[in-house]
Amino acid sequence: MNELTIAMPKGRIFEEAYEMLIEAGFELPENVEMSRKLMIEIPQEKIRFILAKPMDVPTYVEHGVADIGIAGKDVLLEQRREVHELLDLNISKCHIASAGLPNTTLNEIAPRIATKYPTVASDYYREKGEQVEIIGLNGSIELAPMIGLADRIVDIVSTGQTLKENGLVEYEFITDVSSRLIANPASYRMKSERILDLVKRLKKCVK
Ligand code: PRP
Repeated sequence: MNELTIAMPKGRIFEEAYEMLIEAGFELPENVEMSRKLMIEIPQEKIRFILAKPMDVPTYVEHGVADIGIAGKDVLLEQRREVHELLDLNISKCHIASAGLPNTTLNEIAPRIATKYPTVASDYYREKGEQVEIIGLNGSIELAPMIGLADRIVDIVSTGQTLKENGLVEYEFITDVSSRLIANPASYRMKSERILDLVKRLKKCVK
């Protein structure tokens, strides 16, 4: 049996994805993310996990250093990497939306949008026929309208708590997001038996 390297997102998606693998019958140790280790070998399953930033998972998979990975649809839409999307795991569900201060409109002369998703945001406003300036940020996007950097943000909304606590409101729904199982195209051909078995087992656990 070939060893399979799986790129897993660190943080909030990890737990749900890991639980799902356990539910699919993989013999995995508990509390792995409690440690600071970035690579975890599971010899009994011939699996090696690499723990990456969610935005970096498709990079590892595209370059083939991970055979498969779990990545948010938000990241896949943003990066358009050369990877196969095999299965919607239907976990870590949220959506991408535009938001801003209540009762405001886009600045007519120089509308500005702050976002961690410049490609998604520019595609969205282009399709709407609105010319906007996209301002790329790496996090804490909600600050941008609060301090006058942008009229709108384009960001992930999950519970809506972050918007609420910062006095922002959602304006436009852009797209639904959930975690997807992705594969490197060459690995998918060369390790098809293992990967298809994993897909089959995970599919049964999709709720
Ligand atoms: C994401 C997103 C929002 C928040 C939304 O940020 O950018 O800020 O979660 O979740 P909520 O609707 O449940 O409040 P994340 O926690 O990934 O951190 P970031 O600010 O560094 O992007």
